[in-house]
Amino acid sequence: MITGKLIGVGLGPGDPDLMTVRAARLISGASVLAYPALPGTESFARQIASRYISEGSHEIVIEIPMTKERGPAQAAYDLGAGRIAEALDLGRDVVVLCEGDPFFYGSFMYLHARLAGRYDVDVVPGVTSVNASAARLQHPLAARNDVFAVIPAPLDNPSIRERIASADSFAILKVGSHLGRIRDLLCELGLADRSQYIERATLSEETRMTLAEAPDPAPYFSMILVSKGVDPWLKTQS
Ligand SMILES: C[S@@+](CC[C@H](N)C(=O)[O-])C[C@H]1O[C@@H](n2cnc3c(N)ncnc32)[C@H](O)[C@@H]1O
Repeated sequence: MITGKLIGVGLGPGDPDLMTVRAARLISGASVLAYPALPGTESFARQIASRYISEGSHEIVIEIPMTKERGPAQAAYDLGAGRIAEALDLGRDVVVLCEGDPFFYGSFMYLHARLAGRYDVDVVPGVTSVNASAARLQHPLAARNDVFAVIPAPLDNPSIRERIASADSFAILKVGSHLGRIRDLLCELGLADRSQYIERATLSEETRMTLAEAPDPAPYFSMILVSKGVDPWLKTQS
């Protein structure tokens, strides 16, 4: 039996102009698309890709409840993977839309984990929200031998401190309701003035602020970039 291919496609951080040419081509040619959505809302991934979606393509919407417990979301991915598998078993390729990059905290990983052993898979990388935020904030991330860290805000303070201690520069993702705690921690570490906050990077509603001005709670699509210092070699003339 010839089965279809599962194709995870990175869409970039929000501005459709930041999608790769390959992503746009695959989406335009897709007869079956799948994407996550919060129950009762329009999928952000679909919004980013909308200009490329062909009329008549079959869309599999995977509604992911935003609960603290992992169970309901896992059940939703089980259901979504099952519906995708039905299309793959009919020999149809399925393009899965994923905001940013599929393998960088991407929702696609939950489907990949469920389907990769059974079906042929392709993954198309996308511009991550970290790279996009750095560009928008004109915040260089790492040079020469700098160590750059990605830190999820839901980690507890001792874990975050540990990671900050071993990095020259870092991004704090998933800030949301943790903003106040993270701000206090960065102030305590003397890094507040070296921090930049951005929300909805590259979208028309994008907002950039100092850490002091950042809203608490912050929206889901927000992050903080911090650099402990600029490498002096960057300014040295050879
Ligand atoms: C589950 S991760 C998804 C990351 C995504 N796959 C990527 O490659 O960037 C969600 C987190 O990414 C960050 N994020 C995603 N898009 C963003 C944007 N447009 N502006 C700022 N932060 C963003 C936020 O910190 C958000 O809480």
